[in-house]
This record gives sequence, C-alpha cells and structure tokens, in this order.
Amino acid sequence: MSNPELVPGLAGIPAAESSISFIDGQAGVLEYRGYKIEDLSANSTYEEVAWLLLYGELPTADELSAFEADLGRLRELPEALVKMIQAMPATAHPMQALQASLAGLGMVSPKTNLRDAASKDEACRRVIACTPVLVAAFERVRAGKDYVAPKAELSTAANFLWCLDGESPDDVAVRTLDCALILHAEHTMNASTFACRVVASTENDPYTSCSGAVGALFGPLHGGANERVLKQLATIGSVDEVEAWYDAKSANKQKVMGFGHRVYKTKDPRANNLQTLATELFQTLGSTPKYDLALKLEEVVTARLGDRGIYPNVDFFSGLVYEKLGLDTDVFTPIFAMARVAGYCAHYLEQHLDNKLFRPGQIYAGQRDRALPRS
Ligand code: CMC
Repeated sequence: MSNPELVPGLAGIPAAESSISFIDGQAGVLEYRGYKIEDLSANSTYEEVAWLLLYGELPTADELSAFEADLGRLRELPEALVKMIQAMPATAHPMQALQASLAGLGMVSPKTNLRDAASKDEACRRVIACTPVLVAAFERVRAGKDYVAPKAELSTAANFLWCLDGESPDDVAVRTLDCALILHAEHTMNASTFACRVVASTENDPYTSCSGAVGALFGPLHGGANERVLKQLATIGSVDEVEAWYDAKSANKQKVMGFGHRVYKTKDPRANNLQTLATELFQTLGSTPKYDLALKLEEVVTARLGDRGIYPNVDFFSGLVYEKLGLDTDVFTPIFAMARVAGYCAHYLEQHLDNKLFRPGQIYAGQRDRALPRS
C-alpha cells in the first residue's frame, strides 16, 4: 500500500461526524445546531445556548429554569480547590491557572461513571458551572484579594462579574458579556475542541478533557490571539502610523493578530457581532481611541490581504469589548474558555456516543535499522 499524503495541520480532514455546529467559511455563516449565531446572540442567553449545544434542541421554559438552577447549585467550589488556587503563583498566566484548576476540579468532584449518562451529564454541567468561578478566583488571588463565593441565583455572566469584583454588576455589562459568551460557545472542529475529543476518546472524564482543551486554546494561533490584538494596537500607537506599521510587519513576514482563519475566507460572523457589541458599549460607556485604530487596521489589512481571504476573526474586536468592561488583557482568553466549555462538553458527549480512540498514523521520515556505534 502506498503512503497516504501528509496534510499539515490536518487541514480540511474530517476528524468526526458532528451535528453540533456548522460553518460556511465562504459565506461567513456559523450555526449552532442549525440556528444562526446572529439569531442566538440577539435572542438567547448563554445558558439556553449551552443547553442547545449539549442536547441538540432549545430548552423548554421548565428545562431552562431547572438547568439554570443546576448550574447555580454546581458552581460552589470545594474548599480544597479554593486553597489549591490560592497556592498558585501570582505570576502564572490565567490560562495556565485555568488548565490546572480544571484538573483540580476533577480531583475534588465525585468520580465520573463513564457508563452512566447521568453521571457524565452532571460532570459536564459542573465544568460549565465552575469554569467562570475558577477564572474569577485566580484573578482575585493574583491581585492579593480574597476569594468571592459564587451566587446560585445569578446568570453565568452576572455571577462571573460578581465573583471578580464582589459587587452587583450592572445590566449593560452582564448583557454584553452574556452575548460574548454565546458568540464564543462553540466553533466546530478547531484545535482545542479536537484536543478535547482526543482526550475524551481515551475514556477520560470531562474535567481532564476540558483541561487538555484549555491547554490547546492558550496558544497565540488559537484563543491566545485576543490579548495580542490589544497589545498590537497599543504598539501601533496612532491611526497615522497604521500603514507604516503594517508595511514593516509585512516586510518581516509577520502575521497580524486578529486576522485570518483556517475556515473563514471572509469576515468572521462573530467579528461582525462583536463589533456591533463594541459600538453599543461605546455608546453607553464612551469610545476608545483603540477602536479608531482597529477600524484603520481593518481597512489597511483587508485592502492588502482581503483577496487572499484574510479578514478580521473573532479575536479582533473581543478584546476591545472586554477592555471596556474593565477586564485585564490576559483574562480575555480564559473568558473565551469559560464560554467554550459548553462546546467542549457537547463534543465530549458526542464523542462518547460512538467512541473510537484517536490514534492517527504518521509518515516516518527518520532513519532505520542503525547499528549502535559502540557495538
Ligand atoms: N496576517 C498576515 N498574514 C497572514 C495572516 C495574518 N493574520 N494569516 C494568514 N496569513 C498568511 C500567511 O502568512 C501565509 O502566507 P504565505 O502563504 O505567503 O506564507 C498564508 O496567509 C497562509 O497562512 P497560514 O497560517 O498557513 O494559514 P491558516 O489557514 O493556517 O491560518 C491562522 C489560520 C488563524 C493560524 C492564521 O490566519 C493566523 O495565524 N492568524 C493570526 C492569529 C490569529 O488571529 N488567531 C486567531 C484565530 S481565530 C480564533 C481561534 O480559532 O482561536
């Protein structure tokens, strides 16, 4: 048999059959379980979307309120886990802390029975419920502040802001964050979702699978791009300097963060939604010079690279939204993660419907049958 052709990055190679989300990269369409992301972000809540991703249908009113109550009940962190987070070095990146905390959540949670759907379901719900609390807990710890316990009656977005500040969050911030969580909740077979499914395929629990996925999401080519977008805007400085900055970047063959996508060859629909969210937020809280800079950068990059299908991706505007909400730059990717755990868990459950251990092949390019020099 001849060797199969190597496809770097497995680009375009299906790794699973999935009914969770759909992308049309040419038309700029993203759907969760057949519903357009624009409709969901305008009319749903993150909890409703999480249910939709996990179970395939929108919840009834009763199902939704029971699910919200469940998330509220499950988000309490055991003391041992809070102590573990308090012992983490304040110099850690919040994504490193989150990856470790999710593994820690597995250590302090009831053992998941992989032969019992209810047990796996509860573990998935616990991951979705606790991840925002884990992110907020480390934020406070590294700032030298006390842990703020979650409130069961709050939504995911409101509870996260509460756990960060220990103050009742305002409605605009809650609705903005809720919408951003919906937009980040799922995105087909990307690197971190694939990582989640690979770990799940070894017959592991949702804590370990999501912890592995968070490690994959941390990288600058994936979720880590959002914090770099803001650093990039800060480096450019002013609108007048955008063209020269881009020319220097291009001459050095460096990528512009927040642009380009393996699948979208037009503007990422989530970038459109986040841009709308950003402008709405600026109307209430005042604009930022970085937004003008971002618009100019979009104009310059799309003029130069648009014909190659390189346009703003989800990370381009999300940082501007989070910065306006007063969040630290390096907590942007953990916010991406706390939304995306809904998608990871949906993929975890789907992987287990008909599990087969991932064990790809390779094309061996090394030497063979060598004699040891000392024999
Ligand atoms: N700026 C400048 N050139 C780019 C960019 C960019 N952002 N993205 C791709 N290119 C060029 C690249 O230099 C290469 O050019 P050439 O053929 O001349 O060597 C060509 O386009 C193909 O690049 P690639 O990296 O092989 O293409 P890909 O399909 O693997 O790209 C990507 C996907 C996201 C890795 C890439 O666009 C990128 O690195 N973007 C910057 C980082 C970023 O914003 N990441 C967030 C991705 S969206 C959120 C997420 O998935 O987490």
